[in-house]
Amino acid sequence: MRKLLLTTAMMSALVLTGCTKGCNKQQDGSAGSAPAASDEILVGEYGSMTGNEATFGISTSQGIKLAFEEINAQGGVKGKKLKLISLDDQGKPEEAASVVTKLITQNKVVAVIGEVASSRSLAAAPIAQQNKVPMISPSSTNPKVTEVGDYIFRICFIDPFQGTVMAKFARENRKYSKVAIMRDVKSDYSVGLADFFKKKFTELGGEIVAEQTYVANDIDFKAQLTSIKSKKPEAIFVPGYYTEVGLIARQVRALGIVDAKGNKTVLMGGDGWDSSKLYEIGKDAIKGGFFSNHYTTDSEDPRAKTFIEAFKKAYKSTSAPDGLAALGYDAARVLVDAMNRSPSLSPADIRDALATVKDFPGVTGTITMDANRNPTKSAVVVEVVGDSNKFVTTINP
Ligand code: PHE
Repeated sequence: MRKLLLTTAMMSALVLTGCTKGCNKQQDGSAGSAPAASDEILVGEYGSMTGNEATFGISTSQGIKLAFEEINAQGGVKGKKLKLISLDDQGKPEEAASVVTKLITQNKVVAVIGEVASSRSLAAAPIAQQNKVPMISPSSTNPKVTEVGDYIFRICFIDPFQGTVMAKFARENRKYSKVAIMRDVKSDYSVGLADFFKKKFTELGGEIVAEQTYVANDIDFKAQLTSIKSKKPEAIFVPGYYTEVGLIARQVRALGIVDAKGNKTVLMGGDGWDSSKLYEIGKDAIKGGFFSNHYTTDSEDPRAKTFIEAFKKAYKSTSAPDGLAALGYDAARVLVDAMNRSPSLSPADIRDALATVKDFPGVTGTITMDANRNPTKSAVVVEVVGDSNKFVTTINP
């Protein structure tokens, strides 16, 4: 029965990612337990390929695969071809720890790319650290992730910055003075980002008029939103992931939440909103919402434009890749840059080379690792205008 379930999950992941033979997709460690062939470099990836945040894992994986295919077509790394082993953690922290253990102990990968969600990166990072295998999170923004140890890296900015970006945007750009917060108390990302936003927004003279909570998989938010409604906030900051945010937006509109002047209360959030599913779930209710992100598909940057074209071609897609795909692509290319500069392909040497990544030209910005293995990068604010997002402004560190 268990085997059967795995197989179904495997098949749906294959269909969703558009993977055919060349994808090196592997959901089950068994076939990959053998050590790497001498002409291959095994790299592991773990992510939510299924579940409430499936687009996070699928998009990231597509970005990584595109980078690996391009690099392999140019001859690979040190004469060897890159091979990706992707495992699905179903969006669960316990599963993330278990698949990363498998990647390291059975597949013997030289490095691991993942996760997107901070809580899942935090569950798996201690395993990579103990086994001294470098882990690169493309997109986990909670500060604690890289604090796990010197083998843990990230490619994105961190939430003290992201919270500041949205607080400044709310206060200075939109001139809001009364904002409510709705956070997912089980998510390290949501809790952290809510706190960083609150600190900066109040420092700037704004007032947090209500603070409410939920947990992932909730579907009814009416009690919390009714309490928020009585405070008539100009905006509600919801630093969550797209599935719950979409549902919250619909209930905000259904309850007719408005500010003291009778204007519709605006929704705001962070990078966790970045999914094509946000609009599918939230429909018109999410239109006019603002969120911070790592890159914009409206970019005039030649590196971003080249990436967007290559992605659309590779996946026969009419819509532009999301930020996760761009960060996955950057994570894979930063790893390869480190491998090329490293004296050997041992995990320890790759780690040392990752620690010295400098001025790397990424699609999501220029990447230089600081002493704590966090890059300093700009953020963009975008507005949801339908099934696409419109660039509003760039905020530099
Ligand atoms: N930053 C989020 C986290 O740390 C993950 C995320 C990144 C989601 C980018 C969407 C886009 O949990």
